[in-house]
Amino acid sequence: MPDKKTPAGNRFRAAEKARRERPRPDKDWRNSPSPTKPASEGDGAKPARAPRTGSANPANAEGVRLQKVLAQAGIASRRASEELIDEGRVEVDGKVVREQGRRVDPETAVVKVDGERIVITQDLVHLALNKPKGMHSTMSDDLGRPCVGDLVAERVAAGQRLFHVGRLDADTEGLLMLTNDGDLAHRLMHPSYEVPKTYLATVDAPIPRDLGKRLRAGVQLEDGIVKVDSFGVVDVWEGEALVKLVLHEGRKHVVRRLLEEVGHPVRKLVRTDIGPLKLGEQRPGSIRVLNRGEVASLYAAVDL
Ligand code: URA
Repeated sequence: MPDKKTPAGNRFRAAEKARRERPRPDKDWRNSPSPTKPASEGDGAKPARAPRTGSANPANAEGVRLQKVLAQAGIASRRASEELIDEGRVEVDGKVVREQGRRVDPETAVVKVDGERIVITQDLVHLALNKPKGMHSTMSDDLGRPCVGDLVAERVAAGQRLFHVGRLDADTEGLLMLTNDGDLAHRLMHPSYEVPKTYLATVDAPIPRDLGKRLRAGVQLEDGIVKVDSFGVVDVWEGEALVKLVLHEGRKHVVRRLLEEVGHPVRKLVRTDIGPLKLGEQRPGSIRVLNRGEVASLYAAVDL
């Protein structure tokens, strides 16, 4: 059960508060045709989600009792889940549910506890990879080069239809998400949700004082202007500097092209954050399953 006192609990609430306060970029997306697969970054497509009508699983046609769904999602025991329902802390499809007998379809219902979206579909998988340098952001590689698909080969062989959320260049390290959650992936990649991504770049020093101002104002690249949300110098040593950039752009090689354009070609590039999701101390080449708080904060970041 989300604990009101834990840091994760606070994070959930902060994310949910931010979500509520943020204007929705485009309300009409709900009427858009649903995607059959996630769009590529910056493809200009409108975000959409699979229509939440009818269950693909006949076993769910009658619905599953809400307290059982909550218990199966690891929120609380069935008894404690009943109390959550009694207390009016559980929402299904945007409405508070107080009756105990309520049945829901775990494949289609949007269930929230204390305003936080809960993953109730057992087969949704959300993974964070620290992609090492030299690994390609593809699920398979015809030339036999190392690719992220190699790291999840067993999961894929076991039937998980995983894909990577966006890409990092082969030379770039850092945070890359893998999931089978099409709705979430689609929105994380869609420019209209403006999910900020944070990068640490090693570049040549010295860094002129006005570089941040210039990058925030916008720099003309061959495919249009790129602006950063923020820029800062983290460290400087022997002719090199570590700089931090936050931007919500998904264009190919955008950070490298941007820094090259302003005279500071990238020597090393690491993505450390995707919206609220952080790379932290995760080892290069390792994969971890996102916890409930991380998934809830990602949903909140893209208004799901
Ligand atoms: N920008 C780049 O230049 N490369 C990446 O991998 C990601 C963003």
